[in-house]
Amino acid sequence: MRDVLRLVRRIGFSKTTYLEAIAVFTDGAGAVLNTVPLGFKLRDGYIVSRVFRGGRTFSIVVSGLARQGYICVTQNPKLFYLSLYEKDRAIQLLNTRRRGLCDARVEFSIEFTENHSSSVVIYLKPTAVAISRRIPRGFTRASASIIEALVWLTKIPYARGGRRKRIIEHVEHSLESVSRSSRSSVYRSIARKIREKMLELTKTG
Ligand SMILES: Cc1cc2nc3c(=O)[nH]c(=O)nc-3n(C[C@H](O)[C@H](O)[C@H](O)COP(=O)(O)O)c2cc1C
Repeated sequence: MRDVLRLVRRIGFSKTTYLEAIAVFTDGAGAVLNTVPLGFKLRDGYIVSRVFRGGRTFSIVVSGLARQGYICVTQNPKLFYLSLYEKDRAIQLLNTRRRGLCDARVEFSIEFTENHSSSVVIYLKPTAVAISRRIPRGFTRASASIIEALVWLTKIPYARGGRRKRIIEHVEHSLESVSRSSRSSVYRSIARKIREKMLELTKTG
C-alpha cells in the first residue's frame, strides 16, 4: 500500500493541485460502466474527486453500481474528448491496453463516498499502479488548451444567460490558443469537434 501511494505521488497526484485524468468505472464484475474526465487530489492516503450531480458518473456512484476502476493518466487530448462525447470509442481504445495510450494506470476501489446536495465526493483507494511511459513528454500549450476548452464545454449544459455567454468566451479563447500554438491536424480536428459540440449544446438549450 505504501509503495502504491509513493508511485501515485510520483505520477503527480498531490494534496494541493488537481490532477486531471480519465476515470474508468467498473462494476463488481469488472464490466465498464463509464469513462469520464475528473480532477483528483490526494487526501489522507486516498485519491479524492468531487463528482457533480447531473451526469452518469454521479448516478452510478450514488446508486452503488460503480465499485472500482482505474484512472488513466494521460495528456492525450483526443482521449479526453472521446471519454466525454464518444464514450464507446474511448472504452474500445482503452480496452486494447495499447502501450503508451495511458502514461499510467492507477487501479482503485471506491472505499467510501460523502454525499452533498449537488455533488458526491468519492474516496478511491489506489490498489495498483502500472506505468507505461518512461520517456518524458514535453508540455504543449495546445494540449493544455484543448483540456481547458473541454472543461468549459462540459459546464455549458448547467449554465444559462450571462454565465453561459462567459463560458462560451472561455471555450473560444482556449481554442484560439490551440490554433496559435499548433498546426497539428489532430488538434485542429478536436478543436473543430469542440466548436460543433458547443453549437449543438447551445441550440438544445
Ligand atoms: C479535464 C476535465 C476535468 C473535469 N473534472 C471534473 C470533476 O472533478 N468533477 C466533475 O463532476 N466533473 C468534472 N468534469 C466534467 C465532467 O467530465 C463532465 O460533466 C462529464 O460530462 C460528466 O460525464 P458523465 O455524464 O459521463 O458523468 C471535468 C471535465 C474535464 C474535461
